Amino acid sequence: MANTTALAFFIFAQGKYNTLIFMDKKLEILQSKLAEAKLGGGQNRMDAQHKKGKLTARERVHFLLDENSFEEIGALVTHRSTDFGMAEQQFLGDGVVTGYGTINGRLVYVFAQDFTVFGGSLSETHAEKICKVMDLAVKNGAPLIGLNDSGGARIQEGVNSLGGYADIFYRNVQASGVIPQISAIMGPCAGGAVYSPAMTDFIMMVEGSSYMFVTGPNVVKTVTNEEVTSEELGGASTHASKSGVTHLTASNDMDCIFKLKKLLSYIPQNCADKAPTLPYELGDEYRDLLNSIIPENANHPYDIKAVIAGITDAESFFEIHEQYAENIVVGFARLAGRSIGIVANQPMNLAGVLDVNSSKKAARFVRFCDCFNIPLLVLEDVPGFLPGTDQEWNAIITNGAKLLYAFSEATVPRITVITRKAYGGAYDVMNSKHIGADMNFAWPGAEIAVMGAKGASEIIFKKEIDAAADPAAKLAEKERQYADTFANPYRAAARGFIDEVIQPRDTRRKLIKAFAMLENKAVARPKRKHGNVPL
Ligand code: HXC
Repeated sequence: MANTTALAFFIFAQGKYNTLIFMDKKLEILQSKLAEAKLGGGQNRMDAQHKKGKLTARERVHFLLDENSFEEIGALVTHRSTDFGMAEQQFLGDGVVTGYGTINGRLVYVFAQDFTVFGGSLSETHAEKICKVMDLAVKNGAPLIGLNDSGGARIQEGVNSLGGYADIFYRNVQASGVIPQISAIMGPCAGGAVYSPAMTDFIMMVEGSSYMFVTGPNVVKTVTNEEVTSEELGGASTHASKSGVTHLTASNDMDCIFKLKKLLSYIPQNCADKAPTLPYELGDEYRDLLNSIIPENANHPYDIKAVIAGITDAESFFEIHEQYAENIVVGFARLAGRSIGIVANQPMNLAGVLDVNSSKKAARFVRFCDCFNIPLLVLEDVPGFLPGTDQEWNAIITNGAKLLYAFSEATVPRITVITRKAYGGAYDVMNSKHIGADMNFAWPGAEIAVMGAKGASEIIFKKEIDAAADPAAKLAEKERQYADTFANPYRAAARGFIDEVIQPRDTRRKLIKAFAMLENKAVARPKRKHGNVPL
């Protein structure tokens, strides 16, 4: 009996031991596969990436997310293509690292293309991995961040790859306005591949190592005979200043990652959420400096960014599209800890006039803020729309209408402060009371009229001026008369188009209180499929 028990125990222990050995082997296989996946396209290609001053996909994810927060999805995915000897060339993960983690404790979904695997090119399975995290991001209401570094469609896969791109494009559109989508371009991005980033909310490009174009320099040379480098055609500074395709630029990969985190800090997780608020205790909110910012001569410029700095929380302004259409300034800031979006005419550039590019830039920003419940502050000093054939032939009518439309449809809390000029159609467009602004303030020197006193006098008093013995003196007299009547905020205040004329030094305090008062604003819009923005 004792022998039988001992034998049974021996067999049981042996079984356990075998199971352990068996599991050890299985774990070894798993570990070796995960280690292989981590190597991407191999050490040599990773070294080559570093030599170009770029981080690898995994390093980028590591620095972007909170320590130990990243959970990878699909590390063992492989492509399914067999043409051109592809069956023998398998890299675990297939050129894109996907998963989720946190940034400052907030959930995000991320994909990072791995240039060390077939140049980060997009295969059918690579696209499926991206689509998987996009679907999760939408279902769970958290931002999607794409770190792009890719040679485009996986050439060996043909139409399978193109289909993969289209699957991503479709999801970009379905996710638009539901969750924030942010694209960092950290390497090449060419061909139709540029259209996924273009449909996301923000693009950030790394200077010197990234470019975006639909057709590269060689095709350009063949078709148009133009000689242009990749950098000139679609580098970060080109898209930041000339085309406006990129909203932000970064000096290197780490700067890009830092700016991505900063951008996210102003933005809510999804369209039903509110942006994070920083703790703030109200104190003396007067800013005396603001009383002396506007020059005596109304034709002299001043820097609207000094006004922004005087109104918002210290060091909180995060400018978007800084080098593009500089006659309008847009960006995020905090007011007593609350996230706001700012749209401000810039008198330092083209006198702050509205033109094609500034209208498009501001309209896009207003629509983003409205999608994601970020209240809007407008600082207005605008002499009108820019005249000229260039503007008319480039559709200032349609493009100006974009801004008018964007403000008119926005339901977030909206406040305007007229710091100086509010002339002509631009008065209406720049978040006037008439198109749904909630609170409209003006500084005492504000001029709210159809046009400037000189232009107005030349038109309406033309006959009188022409008939005068001294036409110049007559014009000056009429100009004064017109300015006394209209170049002030009181006509508009008398009609209720301006809610209050305020001291500049009191602007911050007024805005903090007004935005708090508007915190629970709710607007019902008529039921419809969607409006028809003048695209
Ligand atoms: C497969 C690719 C690839 C691609 C690069 N590789 N692009 N593999 N499909 N699209 C591979 C290379 O063979 C190489 O493999 C490795 O990636 C690195 O490429 P290099 O050329 O050595 O690197 P570099 O000199 O830095 O040049 C990068 C590059 C260049 C500028 C991106 O590779 C390039 O021009 N690639 C082709 C770009 C392109 O035309 N793509 C299609 C665009 S059309 P090894 O094994 O040597 O490391 C498109 C349509 C999308 O994308 C439409 C969507 C609607």
